[in-house]
Formats: sequence, C-alpha cells, structure tokens
Amino acid sequence: MKAVVLISGNGSNLQSIINHADMIDLEISAVISNNKKAFGLKRAESANIDTYFLDPEIFNTSYSFDNELISIINRLGVELIILAGYMRILSSLFVHHFSGKILNIHPSLLPKYPGLNTHQRAIKASDKLHGVSVHFVTEKLDGGPIISQEVVNIDSNDTKSSLAKKVLEKEHILYPKVIHWYTQNRLKLKNDSTATLDGKNL
Ligand code: GAR
Repeated sequence: MKAVVLISGNGSNLQSIINHADMIDLEISAVISNNKKAFGLKRAESANIDTYFLDPEIFNTSYSFDNELISIINRLGVELIILAGYMRILSSLFVHHFSGKILNIHPSLLPKYPGLNTHQRAIKASDKLHGVSVHFVTEKLDGGPIISQEVVNIDSNDTKSSLAKKVLEKEHILYPKVIHWYTQNRLKLKNDSTATLDGKNL
C-alpha cells in the first residue's frame, strides 16, 4: 500500500517505518515536512524517498497551506497518510478530505495529555504509568478514536528526556504494527467515531 509520511522533526518514527516497510507491505511514496531543517528529510533522502518541504510562511492561512498539502497528496495517489511527529494542527478541510485514512502517534496514554509537553505533564502529575497511543485523526486535536496503546512505567528518577526515550522505544514498535493492520485492510474508521479491527470495535 502506498503511503505518505508527514513529519516536522527528528523522524525516528519515520526511520522505524522505513526499516519495517517491506515487512508491513508499505511503500512510502514521499515524506513531507513543514520544517526545512527536519532531520527526517535527510533520513528519507538516504532511503531514496522523495521529499517535499512546504513552507508555512508563504501561506496566509492554515486553509491555504492544507489546500496545497491536499494537492500534493492527491497527486501522489496514496491510500494512507501517516503523521509521524507532524507538529502542525490539521485543518478540518484536510481531515475531512482524507477521513479514515490518517493515522497519528501521540506520546501519552490518550485521552490523557493531548497537545504538547506530555512527558513533563505526566511527571508533574506524579503518574506511575505513561505511554503512547496510535489513533485515527478526526477534527478533535489528539482526540480521534484510539487504535492501540503501549504503557511504560514512570520511575522516581525519570526525567522528561529519560521518559521520552522509553516512550519512543515503544513508539518504534507500535506504529509499524498498527500500520500493518491498516495495509492489510483490517483497520477501519467507522462513522468517524470508532476504530475497528477485523470488524470488531477497538
Ligand atoms: C514522537 O514522540 C511522537 O509521538 C510525537 O513527536 C515525537 C516525534 O519524534 N508526536 C506528537 O507529539 C504529535 N502530537 P520523531 O520525530 O523522532 O519520530
């Protein structure tokens, strides 16, 4: 299955997806970034994947930015859009256009801690458990139906960076697994509100 990966930064999840691509029946048609300096663009180039940088500064509105993003993705003719550390909020235009075809990975046990600084917030709240969620993207920020989660323990000496490292290790395993469900046509978004695997609600 052809997919596009959207990134903004380091791209360690992208790297894991690239490494697993053959095993999970995935062809990455292109990687798109809203950040010219994203290291993930270099990772894509090293893997001979086409890259696009879309400069937010040349668009007046998020609507016009996303309109261009839609045009590029439509031209690529992909069936799946993978957000892998893409740090821009998607417009409802984009989300509706590709409804049921957008996956996101978020570094918290959603619905806890949508948005930014998730590791810091979990430590500050003295949580014992933290983790990662993969979900379908709907209009609600980090609020679409959850597909799968992995849990990590928060130890008393954990810092936000040690915790981020632990969570990323889980991310790199969880995301390819969920993407594989999708490429096998086992994973669907039902009524814009429920994720199903093999026809069963998750
Ligand atoms: C990952 O932890 C991912 O879950 C998070 O950004 C990091 C990207 O790392 N995504 C979000 O916070 C989205 N709201 P990476 O660039 O090394 O894959």
